[in-house]
Amino acid sequence: MTKTAPGKRLFIKTYGCQMNVYDSERMADVLRPLGYAITDQAEGADLVVLNTCHIREKAAEKVYSELGRIKAMKQRKAEAGGTMTVAVAGCVAQAEGAEIMHRQPAVDLVIGPQSYHRLPELIARAHRASGERLSADFAAEEKFDALPKARGVSGFTAFLTVQEGCDKFCTFCVVPYTRGGEFSRPVEAILAEAQGLADQGVREVTLLGQNVNAYAGEGGLAGLARRLALIPGLDRIRYTTSHPRDMDEALIAAHGELEALMPYLHLPVQSGSDRVLKAMNRGHTAQHYLDLVGRIRAARPDIALSGDFIVGFPGETEAEFEATLDLVRATGYASAFAFKYSRRPGTPAAALPGQIDEAVKEDRLARLLDLLGAQQEAFNAAQVGRTVPVLFERIGRRPGQVVGRSPYLQPIHISASESLIGQIAPVAVSAASRGSLTGTLVQSSLLQPIPEPA
Ligand code: 5AD
Ligand code: SF4
Repeated sequence: MTKTAPGKRLFIKTYGCQMNVYDSERMADVLRPLGYAITDQAEGADLVVLNTCHIREKAAEKVYSELGRIKAMKQRKAEAGGTMTVAVAGCVAQAEGAEIMHRQPAVDLVIGPQSYHRLPELIARAHRASGERLSADFAAEEKFDALPKARGVSGFTAFLTVQEGCDKFCTFCVVPYTRGGEFSRPVEAILAEAQGLADQGVREVTLLGQNVNAYAGEGGLAGLARRLALIPGLDRIRYTTSHPRDMDEALIAAHGELEALMPYLHLPVQSGSDRVLKAMNRGHTAQHYLDLVGRIRAARPDIALSGDFIVGFPGETEAEFEATLDLVRATGYASAFAFKYSRRPGTPAAALPGQIDEAVKEDRLARLLDLLGAQQEAFNAAQVGRTVPVLFERIGRRPGQVVGRSPYLQPIHISASESLIGQIAPVAVSAASRGSLTGTLVQSSLLQPIPEPA
């Protein structure tokens, strides 16, 4: 059950036809989970929407004169210490667009009939611009919202938050509402924390952020990685989660140049269908993503990818789902997460028509997981016969066994002394399963350079 966040008042004035009456109801529906309840009084409301109509003559003038009255109410509310957000929707909004905000600065946002599903996003943006945070009551389950939690930290690996929040407003996602806008910690604070971790023996840091590659501290994420790589003892740097739109050239180049930057990148794409990507508000097409992957692989040929996928987004057809399978085949993932679309009240997609049947979602998820599982198995099998550097983290379940991770985060079990724990050592991989690898330690003496003759 969705609870409603406490007490925001929404006044909607509807002009014109039956279509507009219907649209006003839809707007009220998508705003309800953000805590807005309808009021019949514009005076004192938290959000005023004028849903306009262009048909009759002088319609625009009527809207402007109404806006004049609302401006006075907005001022009264501001004097009393409150805020009123003013939105113009409908056909006048469509036709006049930016002109309205220019003529009447009391208007916070203008939204055409094609964009009502984005109202929660636009309202959240308007609130952010005025420095206010929406207190939307998203269901307590924060499955998709939370940053990865430190999984059994070994003492040699650590998470380091560098960025929080999200400005992307994917239409299925609660994060931009619950976590607010993108915020980056200053470089110096991060470097100091990383140095502290290195002093405690940490060899690997994973930089965390909901949109980590949108990191906006000096030098961006590429600059940060370069500085972190200079810290003695910090041999491995990872980061998660990235958005394809923020994968800039500097970061791609850093992957080619920084040995410490692990060749394993979590780069969610969510869908392989351009229509679905657009409805998700992802801001890129399938081809953009494939091109991007091509450029990353050109810079760092041994890079492996992981991703996130959503099946059964509202309106997803069988052919659109198959486009996702095609993209997965074209990309090739070392591992990935796949989710059934889950309706998060308050997000724009929750109000979209064409919600997909649970059984269809189940079927698509199973087919996608089959493909991803086969790719993961093939990726792991391809490691057999190779020698890979392993950071040993802990003792294994069997006596005499130690466990570490490859650059691709694959767990590797070998028989060796506990003294390896905390070290990075080469392992010849002898066998692979879907979830892990086994191998033998390559004697490090064999790897030492042969001394020059005197
Ligand atoms: N339904 C299904 N999956 C979702 N995710 C986020 N929101 C939803 C949702 N409403 C997934 C996305 C994201 C990951 C963290 O969770 O794939 O990348
Ligand atoms: Fe959510 Fe990620 Fe999209 Fe931001 S970029 S809205 S966190 S899925």
